[in-house]
Amino acid sequence: MGRVALVTGGSRGIGEAISKKLLADGLTVAATYAGNDEAAEKFTAATGIKTYKWNVADYEASKAGIAQVEADLGPIDVVVANAGITRDAPFHKMTPEQWTQVIDTNLNGVFNTVHPIWPGMRERKFGRVVVISSINGQKGQFAQANYAATKAGDLGIVKSLAQEGARAGITANAVCPGYIATEMVMAVPEKVRDSIIAQIPAGRLGEPEEIARCVSFLASDESGFINGSTISANGAQFFV
Ligand code: CAA
Ligand code: NAP
Repeated sequence: MGRVALVTGGSRGIGEAISKKLLADGLTVAATYAGNDEAAEKFTAATGIKTYKWNVADYEASKAGIAQVEADLGPIDVVVANAGITRDAPFHKMTPEQWTQVIDTNLNGVFNTVHPIWPGMRERKFGRVVVISSINGQKGQFAQANYAATKAGDLGIVKSLAQEGARAGITANAVCPGYIATEMVMAVPEKVRDSIIAQIPAGRLGEPEEIARCVSFLASDESGFINGSTISANGAQFFV
């Protein structure tokens, strides 16, 4: 039987490319989103991939949404925790709301997404957990204390889950994209974005499909001995 994948934030940007790649790989895919119905409808019309709307920051909503996906498509074998937001501000200007929104969505969102799926993966002795972290979780970033904290946290999560899941046939890995051409990066002021691109040895932003190919590998049956790892895809901007 074909594998089933859940991609949070799977209707736009990097998540859209991941959803499409996993579909092309032969998986049955469910993509979630937060509120942009128009983008989700367009995505489903173009791909045939079913979308589900819930807030990853809400544990009960995530649990209910995941139960619905499993009722519709079957048990989830591959989960890609991709949904994320930025609320950038220099630390002295960062509000408690900006801090909390990013922690709730990017960090608690990973718990809320993976936790309801994890017991089923343990029972079935197979699972692939892929978390989309960031170059800025590896190196920090001016005006991103909140975001960098969550993305560094992702690396701790996968290293812990890798140890817990290994004997149950579950792997947990992270992908750390550099700056990728999506709406998230396009929201950075143009002048600042140009200065960021100037720091990328490749001389360009990455494409969402370049991240999707990393996820495809980590999600495959063939990657079973890669566990607790991080793949960096950043055009040589930063080395760990
Ligand atoms: N390093 C050092 N100094 C910096 C700096 C940097 N990277 N960026 C800005 N500064 C300086 C500015 O030059 C300015 O200095 P002066 O006061 O001497 O002029 C000061 O810091 C801050 O200026 P402002 O008070 O005007 O800042 P602001 O409150 O208007 O905030 C900003 C501006 C939010 C920081 C804006 O510059 C910005 O959006 N920066 C980009 C941050 C970033 O890289 N975000 C990544 C988004 S994409 C993403 O997150 C995806 C991913 O995972 C890669
Ligand atoms: P994006 O273009 O802004 O798309 C974000 C997706 O996440 C959308 O589908 C959005 O749904 C969904 N989402 C946001 N908040 C949500 C919530 N609370 N609940 C459910 N879904 C939510 O972002 P992106 O650039 O593709 O980024 C995807 C991931 O990659 C994020 O985790 C980001 O931190 C990470 N990343 C991005 C870059 C980059 O350069 N772009 C680099 C490194 C890491 P709606 O459509 O409904 O808004």
